[in-house]
Amino acid sequence: MTDNLSYQTQILKRLEAASAEMDNTPLSCLMAHEHRIEMVRKWEDLWVDMTRQHLTPEILGDLYQFAETKDLRTKMQALFSGEPINTTEGRAVEHLALRHPDRKTTQEWQKLSQFVTQTRSEGKFKKIVNIGIGGSDLGPAMLSQALAPFIAPIASGPECFFVGNVDPAHLFDILAKCRADETLFIVTSKTFTTTETMANATLAKDWLIAHSVNPETALVGVTAAPEKAASWGLARDNIFDFAEGVGGRYSMWSAVSLSVMLGCGMDIFNALLDGAHATDKHVQHTDWPDNLAVNLALIRIWHRQFRQSGTYGLMAYDQRLCRFAAWAQQLEMESNGKSVSLDGSRLASPAAPLIWGEPGTNAQHSFFQWLHQGLEIHPIDILVPRKTLSHGKEDSWQDSHRKLVINAIAQAEALALGQQDSSSPHRYFEGNRPSVVISWEQSTPYAIGRLLSLYEHITIISGFLWGINSFDQFGVELGKKMAIELENEQSQSHFSKAALELLSSL
Ligand code: F6P
Repeated sequence: MTDNLSYQTQILKRLEAASAEMDNTPLSCLMAHEHRIEMVRKWEDLWVDMTRQHLTPEILGDLYQFAETKDLRTKMQALFSGEPINTTEGRAVEHLALRHPDRKTTQEWQKLSQFVTQTRSEGKFKKIVNIGIGGSDLGPAMLSQALAPFIAPIASGPECFFVGNVDPAHLFDILAKCRADETLFIVTSKTFTTTETMANATLAKDWLIAHSVNPETALVGVTAAPEKAASWGLARDNIFDFAEGVGGRYSMWSAVSLSVMLGCGMDIFNALLDGAHATDKHVQHTDWPDNLAVNLALIRIWHRQFRQSGTYGLMAYDQRLCRFAAWAQQLEMESNGKSVSLDGSRLASPAAPLIWGEPGTNAQHSFFQWLHQGLEIHPIDILVPRKTLSHGKEDSWQDSHRKLVINAIAQAEALALGQQDSSSPHRYFEGNRPSVVISWEQSTPYAIGRLLSLYEHITIISGFLWGINSFDQFGVELGKKMAIELENEQSQSHFSKAALELLSSL
């Protein structure tokens, strides 16, 4: 134990010293090294280019040692073997099983695929409205855009819409695009108690009734609490369930994506699951130097713990991944936005960074100025498919995609190398700003599944390294409790005068 502690201390000291040395080492020098290209890791057609990082093979070696001292191997093994690692809630982490080929033999899968195949072939529903929030919204909403070439209006089948906000304007504006006799509502809620979702579900039910449509024929539920959905009024056949051990932010592989399955059909959704499962196998069986998730998680830790960066940006140069950063934001920040380690002791340094981002190239024309010339340095991932998937085949369409990729590369180089030979300080680019460029051949469903599963693993491995439980989210509860108290006039004495004044103005 003492030996282990002193070894941990040694590694920490080495990494801190390395970080201090990196403060005086321009990325341009590191990038000029003749073996630098070896810091591009490749698996299948997925390339992770770590050459523009303040890292050397020696520092990476120390980071792997750091991971050893945090028992990463044992923790990953426990994840993959289904041990109850969500200790605060006494559960295993079950979302990996959702993309395992064995799922295809389950009743859950049979019920889902029968419903999807039948509904698509009947063609009655032209619009699907998913009502859900957080993990019951962000994943499927992102997927519906990522898989756009396989969903109406580009492909045949129903169109998908997503309502999350309790702001009635959200549902209202979507209903304006729908006809009651051709719209299917899916109420998606792991707990089937979330205020926003239940409020929107009731509005949707009333809307159907007001338009003489029997809700039993146009409303289904997705939940891990089927008895609650049944008491809300759904018939058992109209309830699609998933396991309690599937966390909301990890749930898009489950029936939570029923809207997307209806939109694109089961073959496409299967390809997505295959890609996600391929990543699981890669992460489970690949040695750390070539393990993409381990390397990327260590880069997050490097920035957060050793380089003191409070943010981590995700810039997808893929318009169809325009909701990727929003999804990854909940994934990381709800999982790792914690102050205590597994045993309840306070963390010595902060965990999850602020995850943020917008798609490129648009982002270049809004906040990239800040990335290039602001005083602080904010690490980012730049994500880009090297080829287009489905656009016009004409050269001009292909050429636009080429421009997209070239912009992604140019930004990574400009951030890292800067431009020092300027006469004016206003035109000076310090450079030395790190990014990881992640690229893949084409954004096929398989490639999308592979990428999203990779980001899940980055979050989970980061949580293991920080020693926290990435699978609970007690931090969301206090605000919900106070909202209930504000609704209930008897329990308001502890609220501030300002809060009560605003309340009384409603
Ligand atoms: O409030 C946060 C949260 O509990 C998330 O963890 C979850 O994804 C979201 O709300 C929605 O919860 P549910 O699926 O139970 O409606």
